[in-house]
Amino acid sequence: RVTQKVDSVLSLMTLEEKIGQINQYAIGEEMTGPSEKGEQAEKRYQQILSGKVGSVLNLLGAENTMKLQKLVMENSRLKIPLIFSYDVIHGYKTIFPVPLAESASWNLDLMKKTASVAAQEAAASGLHWTFAPMIDVSRDARWGRVMEGAGEDPYLGAEIAKARILGFQGNDLSDPFTIAATAKHFAGYGFVESGKDYNSMNLNREVLLNQIIPPFKAAEEVGVASFMNSFNDVDGIPASASEYLLRDILKGQWEFDGVVVSDWNSIGEIVNHGTAANLKEASAQAINAGSDIDMEAEAYITHLATLVEEGKVEEETINDAVRRVLKLKFELGLFDNPYKYSDLTREKETIQKPEFTEVAREIARESIVLLKNEKDLLPLKSNQKIAVIGPLAKDKDSPLGNWRAQAKAGSAISLYEGLEEAFGTENLIYAEGVKLSIGPNTFHQKTEIEEKDKSGFEEAKKIAQKADVVIMALGETAYMSGEGRSRSEIGLPGLQLELLEEIKEVNSNIVLVLMNGRPLTLSWEAENIPAILETWHLGAEAGNAIADVLKGDYNPSGKLTMSFPRRVGQLPIYYNHKVTGRPDSGPGMVFYTHHNDVDSTPLFPFGFGLSYSNFEYGEIQLSSNTLEADGSITASVEITNSGKVSGEEIVQLYIQDEVGSVTRPVKELKGFAKEKLAPNESKTFTFTITPEMLSFYRKDNTFGTEPGTFKIYIAPNSATEEYKKITLQ
Ligand code: IFM
Repeated sequence: RVTQKVDSVLSLMTLEEKIGQINQYAIGEEMTGPSEKGEQAEKRYQQILSGKVGSVLNLLGAENTMKLQKLVMENSRLKIPLIFSYDVIHGYKTIFPVPLAESASWNLDLMKKTASVAAQEAAASGLHWTFAPMIDVSRDARWGRVMEGAGEDPYLGAEIAKARILGFQGNDLSDPFTIAATAKHFAGYGFVESGKDYNSMNLNREVLLNQIIPPFKAAEEVGVASFMNSFNDVDGIPASASEYLLRDILKGQWEFDGVVVSDWNSIGEIVNHGTAANLKEASAQAINAGSDIDMEAEAYITHLATLVEEGKVEEETINDAVRRVLKLKFELGLFDNPYKYSDLTREKETIQKPEFTEVAREIARESIVLLKNEKDLLPLKSNQKIAVIGPLAKDKDSPLGNWRAQAKAGSAISLYEGLEEAFGTENLIYAEGVKLSIGPNTFHQKTEIEEKDKSGFEEAKKIAQKADVVIMALGETAYMSGEGRSRSEIGLPGLQLELLEEIKEVNSNIVLVLMNGRPLTLSWEAENIPAILETWHLGAEAGNAIADVLKGDYNPSGKLTMSFPRRVGQLPIYYNHKVTGRPDSGPGMVFYTHHNDVDSTPLFPFGFGLSYSNFEYGEIQLSSNTLEADGSITASVEITNSGKVSGEEIVQLYIQDEVGSVTRPVKELKGFAKEKLAPNESKTFTFTITPEMLSFYRKDNTFGTEPGTFKIYIAPNSATEEYKKITLQ
C-alpha cells in the first residue's frame, strides 16, 4: 500500500519538485520565518517554501520544527512534509557514554535502551531521523572517530548495530516516540590510512566483505531506514559515487529499499577526489551510483535537471531516489500528520525524565573497564584519605564527550562530585596538578595542548603525600577525540604523564582513572601504576558511575572492544588479524612478522577487562567433534566465581578457520554471553555452533562455508590459547 501511495504522489510531481525531495540542507532558526536573512539563506528559504528541499538537518525543537513545517504545508504546491534530521549519537539531552564506551558493556539490551531514550527525547523535540549509529569497524586508535563506533570486531559490531537501530526505530517508524536510524558510513571510513580522518585507504575486496560489511548487512536485515555514504574512496572510487557499493551490494544483492543519504558535501568532494571535473559530473556520478539524497552540496538541485535534459541521467533514476524519500515520509506518518512529532507539551514532559538519568548511570557503570588492580587498592576502603588529582577530576564538560547533541556544556557529574557523594567531602583533598588544554576547545575548533606549565606539580605532590590513596584523573578532553581529531601520538596528552611519574615518587598507591574517547598507549602506566580504571567519556552520570565502581557498589564488568597498543607504531592493531606467511615465532627470531623493538601483542587485548570477582574457566566440552553441513553442535564451559563478591562475566566464543580459499583471521568472535555469578557459584555457558557461523566471503566472492577444521575457543578475552578442534563436513 505504501508503494501505491508513493507512486500516486510521484505521478503528481514535476521534475523540479522531484529533485527538491532529494535536496537536503543544514539550517538554523532563522529559517522558521520571513526574517532578515543573508542572500544564501534567503535563497534556501525560498527553496524550502516552494518544495525544493525534502529534508533538513540541525533544526531542532517542537516549536521550530512546527513553524517550518507549517510554512511548507502552507506554501508549497504539493504540501509534502519535510523530514527533520540531526546527529543524535549518544543521547539527545540526556547524554550517555560515547558509543565506544557503551560497546565495552557488551550489554545489547542496555544499548538498545539508551538508543530508545535518545529517540524519545529527539522525537519529542520534533526530530524524525538520526544519523546514527556509526557502525564502521575501526582498528586504528589514531582515528578520532573510533569514539563513535563499537570497536574493531565485525561480529560484535553487527550485534551492537542491530541493538542500536532497534532502539532508535522500535518496531514502527510511525510511532512518534521513535526516529529513523542511519547505518553509517558506507563503507570503509574506519580504515583511513594512518588513522587520518578523511584520508584515502588501501582496502582489498576480501577485507571489505568479511570485515567491514557485516555490521552494514546486519543493519539492513533489521530494517534500518537509511544508509549514509562515507567520505573515502573504495577501490579508487569515492564511496558516494560507488556503483559497486550502492547499486551492486546495497540495492542489488541486499535489495535495500530505504534511503541513501550522502555525507556532508560528499557529492561535492567527488570533485576533490578527482574522479569528476566539476560538480555537475559529480552529481551524475552520485545519482547514477545510487546516492539518493544530496546533503549540503547543492549538487542535485543545481545540475540534475540539465543532466536529465542532456540524457546523462535517466528521470527514472531520480524517480527511484524520490520514491525512497517519499516512502520514508509515509512510514514516519508525516503524510497523515506532518506535525505529529512537534508537540510542545510532550517535549516538556519527555526531555530529561528522571528515569533517563537512571539509565545513564546504569550504562555508564557497565561501560567502565578495570584494566589493572594490584596492591588490593580497589574497591577503596572506607575512611581512607583520598587525594584527587588531575585536570579531569573536576571537569564537568569532558565526560560528555564529542557529538553530545543538545547537552548543556559542563552539565556532567564530575568525578569529584561523584566522590563527594560516595565518600564525603571531608575524606577528599584536591589539586588540579596540570592544565590539560588552553585555547579553543569546541566542536568546530582545535584544542591546543599546554606543554609547559608545571607550576601545579608541587601542590599536587604535597596533597598526595598526605593521602592513603591517590586518584589521578587523566586522559583526554571531550574534543580530543571525535571527527577531525586524529592524532599521531595517543599517549596521555600534555604533561599528564610527567605529573603521574612525579606523584608516584611520593605516593605509589595510585588509582589511575582514565577519561578518553579512544584507546591510549599506556605502557609506562601499566607497568608502574597499581590500579587502572578505563572510564572513557561516560556521559551525564560519569562521576556517579565511576564512584560506584571505586566504592565497590558496582563490580566492574566492562571489556575492551578495541585493542590497546603498547606503542603507536603497532597501529593498526586488532585481535582478528591474518596469520601471514611468517607468523611471529617469538623472541630472538628475525625473519618473521614482528617489530624488533616491541612485543607483537597489544598491551590490553580485545575482550579484556577485570572484575572484583575472580572467574575460573573449566575445560571446553564439545557435544561432537564433527559438524554436519546442515547440523549443529554445542561447545560449553563451566565457569566458577572463586572471588568474594558477585560479579558479571562476559564469556566469549572465538573460532579459527584453519584453511580457507582466502586467508583467514587467527580468531574471530562468534558469540558471547554476559551473566552474573555469586561467590562460589559455578555456571555452564553453552554456545551452539552452526555452519552459518563458519561462513565467509570466499575466493569467488560468494558467501558460504568450506569444509575443514576449526579451532573453538571459549575464553575471558581474545588472548586465549586454549581450544578444541571440530571438523565441518
Ligand atoms: O552525520 C554526520 C557525519 O557522520 C559526518 N559529517 C556530517 C554529518 C551530518 O552532521
